[in-house]
Formats: sequence, structure tokens, C-alpha cells
Amino acid sequence: MKERFEDKRVIVTGAGSGIGRATAIRMAGEGARVWCADINEVALNETVSLIEAGGGTAAFSVFDVTDPAQSVALVNEVVEAWGGLNVLCNIAGIGGMKPFQDLTPEYFNKMLAVNLSGPFYLCHAAMPQLLKTKGNIVNLASSAGKIGQAYVAAYVASKHGLVGLTKSLAMEFGRRGVRANAICPGAVNTPLIQNFEMAEGIDFDLVNRYNFLPWFSEPEDIAAMVAYVASDEARYVNGAVLSIDGGITTG
Ligand SMILES: NC(=O)c1ccc[n+]([C@@H]2O[C@H](COP(=O)([O-])OP(=O)(O)OC[C@H]3O[C@@H](n4cnc5c(N)ncnc54)[C@H](O)[C@@H]3O)[C@@H](O)[C@H]2O)c1
Repeated sequence: MKERFEDKRVIVTGAGSGIGRATAIRMAGEGARVWCADINEVALNETVSLIEAGGGTAAFSVFDVTDPAQSVALVNEVVEAWGGLNVLCNIAGIGGMKPFQDLTPEYFNKMLAVNLSGPFYLCHAAMPQLLKTKGNIVNLASSAGKIGQAYVAAYVASKHGLVGLTKSLAMEFGRRGVRANAICPGAVNTPLIQNFEMAEGIDFDLVNRYNFLPWFSEPEDIAAMVAYVASDEARYVNGAVLSIDGGITTG
């Protein structure tokens, strides 16, 4: 049986850790050639080694998603090496908690630069290639892209923006054969959440609403959903904002 990602060339940002790494490994395990992009070179090397140890094909670029020129260079590099691009997974991201009055313009702008402007730069750079291959984009948003949450206003704003960007791409490019979808996890067991520092003086009743089930999901759970959405099995899934959050955005 043909593997789901045989002959597919995929970019995964944030591939050095957590959900990005799990997605890169999952897609390579299903036959994709995966180009891993991340700001952390050591972590990228580890991901590529893991993929190669499993018999998969991967390459990497050290890459800062906040620099538009690096997005153009990344897409060019992949196309030069592998002849085209089928799937873009925007997974790199940062988080953080601060009471609203402690937010500074620098903090807010950094959050938007990584979580929203970065995916925009890459979508923009990749679109001409995705139009050629009738490819697709998967943007890693969050439950914070669907509901308001106390003490994470900058993160929530960035993820709502990413959901809006995804829906608009789906509308503008769907009929031309390029799908765009957003995945919205709740709490996932990765360094992003393991290193999460609770702000001082907060109302825990508000924070406890972020997690409904008394356990986290694992990065592999999210990777499985990304892989489905990016595969041809999901050919009619476009502009979807898919929750994988244990139910927190339900009620
Ligand atoms: N962990 C969660 O609970 C959770 C929940 C919902 C959504 N998400 C989203 O999932 C995505 C992945 O998060 P994770 O939990 O795997 O976190 P993680 O910290 O394990 O991985 C994030 C990766 O992004 C990379 N990165 C950070 N800034 C970068 C930059 N400027 N350029 C390139 N790479 C950069 C980091 O080096 C790291 O490898 C993020 O977009 C995050 O917002 C995470």
C-alpha cells in the first residue's frame, strides 16, 4: 500500500522540539521528505538523527521565523534540493503568561512576531510552490485561538490572528487547489508548557479553566491530527479550525 506522504516534500517549523518534532517524525515515518526548520541547531540535529534512525529522509535549516528574508531563503532551499514543496506546517511558537497590565509593547510584539507574522511570511513565500503542487498548509494555533483566556492576552491575540489568517487563505486559495487549516490543541506535554511560569498574584479559578481533562495530551497526539489534515485523505478539509483540547472550548 502506498504511504500517505510518499513523494511529498514537507516543511515543518519548530521541528526541534515538542509538537514540531513529533510531526516531523510522524510524516517522515509515513514516507515524506521532511525539511526541519528551527532556531535551535542542536535540537534540529537531534530530530534529523531520530528521523534517519527510523529510516526516514530529512534535512534541516537553522531558521528564525521572525525574519521574512529567511522564509524566502528556506523555501528556495527546499525547492532547489527537492524540486518542489507539497506541505507547509507552521508549528514554531512561543508562549508565556503575564497579567495584562504587565504586558509591554516589546513582549506583545515578540509574541505576534513569532506566532503570527512568522507563519504569514512562510505562507507568503511558499504559496507559489503550493499552487504548483496543489499542496496545503497546516497552522498550529491553539485553544487560545478560539476562546479568551486570562493572563495570556498576547498569546491569545497571536493565535486568534493565526486562525483568521488560516481561514482567509482557505477562502482565497481553496478553489485553486491549496487547502489551509488550523489545529487547536489544549495543553500538550512539551517544554513550552513544562517550563510555563505562573505569574504572581493570579486568580487560579480563571487559570484552571484552561485545562478540562486532568491530564495533558502528548505531542504525538497532535502530530497524528496534523498528518491527517496534511494528507490527501483530508482533501475536503479546508479552512477548518480543528480542536484537540479535551473539551475545554466546548463549554
Ligand atoms: N504545548 C502546548 O500546550 C500547546 C498548546 C497549544 C498550542 N501549542 C502550539 O504548538 C506549537 C509548538 O509548541 P510546543 O508545545 O511543541 O513548544 P516547544 O517549545 O516544545 O517547541 C517550539 C519550537 O519552536 C522553536 N522556535 C521558537 N521561536 C522560534 C523562532 N523565532 N524561529 C524558529 N523556531 C522557533 C523552538 O526552538 C522550539 O523548538 C506552538 O505554536 C504552540 O503555540 C502548544
